[in-house]
Amino acid sequence: MAHQALPLRRYLATNAVVLAPPFVGLAGLWWHGDLALRPALIAAAGIGVVTILLLQRYLGALGRFARFVSELSGDQEPVMPRLKFAPATEELAVAAAILASGWRRQRASIDNLAASAQAIVDGLPDPLIAVDRQRRIVRSNRAAVALLGPVVAFRDLSTVLRYPALLSAIDTLLSVTDGNFHGPDHVAVDLMLPGPPELDVIAHAQRLPRAAADGSLALIVLHDTTALRRAERMRADFVANASHELKTPIAGLLGFIETLRGPARDDAAARERFLGIMAEQADRMRRLVDDLLMLSRIEQHEHARPDAAVDLGRVLAGVGDLLQLKASSRKVTLELAVEPTLPAAVGDYDELTIVFQNLIDNAIKYAKPATTVRVTARPAGEDRVSVAVADESDGIPAAHLPRLTERFYRVDTARSRQLGGTGLGLAIVKHVVNRHRGRLEIQSTPGKGSVFTVTLPAAISQK
Ligand SMILES: Nc1ncnc2c1ncn2[C@@H]1O[C@H](COP(=O)(O)OP(=O)(O)OP(=O)(O)O)[C@@H](O)[C@H]1O
Ligand SMILES: [Mg+2]
Repeated sequence: MAHQALPLRRYLATNAVVLAPPFVGLAGLWWHGDLALRPALIAAAGIGVVTILLLQRYLGALGRFARFVSELSGDQEPVMPRLKFAPATEELAVAAAILASGWRRQRASIDNLAASAQAIVDGLPDPLIAVDRQRRIVRSNRAAVALLGPVVAFRDLSTVLRYPALLSAIDTLLSVTDGNFHGPDHVAVDLMLPGPPELDVIAHAQRLPRAAADGSLALIVLHDTTALRRAERMRADFVANASHELKTPIAGLLGFIETLRGPARDDAAARERFLGIMAEQADRMRRLVDDLLMLSRIEQHEHARPDAAVDLGRVLAGVGDLLQLKASSRKVTLELAVEPTLPAAVGDYDELTIVFQNLIDNAIKYAKPATTVRVTARPAGEDRVSVAVADESDGIPAAHLPRLTERFYRVDTARSRQLGGTGLGLAIVKHVVNRHRGRLEIQSTPGKGSVFTVTLPAAISQK
């Protein structure tokens, strides 16, 4: 610690002020003849030496006190100096130390508050930026940095968000006329962040009732609505697709009704043929509506996992019996291989029947005539079972595989329609498998065939 000595002139002046009264007294005594010169000089010398010595110590103590007080404002608590030669300063030093420790405690709690405020802001999942009256960035959170890259404080907001619509909305929010804010204290602006990945975002800007201690006057929160928009688009697509699927058979039915009422009214043979086609169309509509209802029912319960023990051998045998006729009509051989040690699956009997009915129906439907559809059920690992449905067909081009389980998605729409498909089968399969906490894997080799494998939790893991 630098020793801060009292400046020489002040030191001399202090000594002079203290020594002046005794010296003047001695001079007076000598002047009036009450004291001889020699004793007067000796007394003056004695007083001078003692006073200077005592004063030096006193001034030293004062200097230490001054240093101590100035050090109290630092980060570290200084050691209390020896102040014996200046008793009052000792008390002052103690009082100052108490004051400083109180101030230090308060500063720590303010630092704490500031840190927890930043922690809360950082913990928000949505990016947040606070700007001051001049639209300069005052603070930002971790999500903002993750989305926008480094956000430099005290730069204009446009350095990170260069969207004219947002900037002018914030300018309006912060504009003051006659010392008052006008207009709403909140604006929401739709933005498209180019990415990648491209994001749909709503920027909510909120003006605070008054500027915060750090100068923040408006908060901008970016809320990612990409998933919401995508879901909205999917729902709109779904409704459009479903209506389109229903429109075709309805138009067919209306056409035939018209014909039966008019030109074919008295043609018994045509009537018979048309009624057959109408029944087919009506059946197609029924299947479509049944599938849609089933899909929505499964989706509603997707979060609840079914927990019965299901004998997959029995399920597959049932489905095999049901589809045997269809297979024979296409000269397709249905081969069922269930390992004797196969444990039960954890699930719902009816829903798993629907899954394998769809997969085996597809395999028979899309297989080349006079080929074999092989269904193999075996344990998979310690606590799972798998069922593979393999066909010999033209296969599915790889580009289609990721989208195959989307509603109404077909590789060849005309062919699927002609084969009586609604395009909802694999969507239903995927949702049921999800509800069972299982997996659906699709492998396909163009020109050879496809294998659809469903893996489900086995009942043994529950014991
Ligand atoms: N085993 C398969 N081989 C070749 N293509 C298949 C196979 N399984 C499904 N696909 C293709 O996937 C599409 C979707 O199948 P999905 O089962 O969802 O619909 P679908 O069979 O057309 O109608 P349905 O709702 O009556 O089952 C089919 O249209 C077809 O193009
Ligand atoms: Mg199908």
